[in-house]
Amino acid sequence: MPSYLSIFLYILEYLYERFLRLLTGDLIIDEETDPSTVVGKVALVTGANSGLGKEVAIALAARGYKVILACRNLTLGKSVVQEIQQRTRALSSNLILKELDLANLSSVRTFASQVSTQYPKLTLLVNNAGVYFDSDERQVTKDGFEVHMGVNHLGHFLLTNLLLDNLKAAAPSRIVTVTSTNQLIADLQLDDLMLERVENFGFQNTIPYNNSKLANSLFTKELGKRLVGSGVTTYSVCPGLVATDVFRNFTPFRKFYTNLNILLVGLTAKQGAETILYCALDKNLSKETGQIYRFGKHFKSAMKKMDGQVGKSLWDISLQLVGLNKK
Ligand SMILES: NC(=O)c1ccc[n+]([C@@H]2O[C@H](COP(=O)([O-])OP(=O)(O)OC[C@H]3O[C@@H](n4cnc5c(N)ncnc54)[C@H](OP(=O)(O)O)[C@@H]3O)[C@@H](O)[C@H]2O)c1
Repeated sequence: MPSYLSIFLYILEYLYERFLRLLTGDLIIDEETDPSTVVGKVALVTGANSGLGKEVAIALAARGYKVILACRNLTLGKSVVQEIQQRTRALSSNLILKELDLANLSSVRTFASQVSTQYPKLTLLVNNAGVYFDSDERQVTKDGFEVHMGVNHLGHFLLTNLLLDNLKAAAPSRIVTVTSTNQLIADLQLDDLMLERVENFGFQNTIPYNNSKLANSLFTKELGKRLVGSGVTTYSVCPGLVATDVFRNFTPFRKFYTNLNILLVGLTAKQGAETILYCALDKNLSKETGQIYRFGKHFKSAMKKMDGQVGKSLWDISLQLVGLNKK
């Protein structure tokens, strides 16, 4: 379990970096400015119907990308597609709404199979969707996985692996996975990934979420290694503390003081999306792979904690859990 000292240091470092970020102002992305280079390029964003995913989808559509919005709620998704169309004047053929439930591997397989057939070249995959509960009760996905590990890590693990050929076909291409600063206070035990044996979920019951977010960065690093030479590069991003709906499942008291924190040191969804877009688009990052970013730069303390051996073991376990070892 993370100690109170490590939790305190993690908060202190966040506040310091957030303060620096305030001083430096908006993040400038050094990207291709000729719109013709984007024509026909396909980007996929999971959880594109709200918060950070929606902001990323808006920014990509405004640049001329064909954006696949992978959402579990198609009714909400439809209204977001209309909103993006109005705000960006994107062609309707450039906004593709598709159903994806990351809490159900069969849905992930159906979705990936449709996308890989219909869009043989995929330039950008943004693994953004996520859930965050602060309950002391263990919840599971349709496949019986602990819900955070299942949705935030395993769903994206399977999706990414099933779309790798499409990403390679579009190289240079990128995979950006949204993680969290909370990975610094994870307690990932590979022999109990589904938290069946732990007695409590730690400070504010955050261990299940924190572990899934550490898994996002370990996955990104291991995938980056495996893709060296393929033209596909990987990035994991903590967006900062952002005013979105991700805290919707919190208890009323926790929601109250999280909102207070957001008011004091948080970011808007548009600001939070900046580092995701930086990793997706900045030309200077084309030679980097597997690293973690926050506030538009390397998230060094998280990178220092990355353990290649754990990443490799997590990869092997994840393959088995999603059934890819049977291929
Ligand atoms: N906000 C923050 O302060 C913060 C900080 C660090 C990291 N993050 C990460 O940022 C990412 C985006 O979250 P957000 O802050 O933008 O929150 P959000 O507005 O709640 O967005 C989360 C998205 O994930 C989707 N989603 C949840 N479960 C899903 C499932 N089973 N299948 C498919 N989609 C699913 C949600 O769809 P529905 O609308 O259908 O629920 C929603 O579109 C998450 O990975 C989160 O962990 C956020």
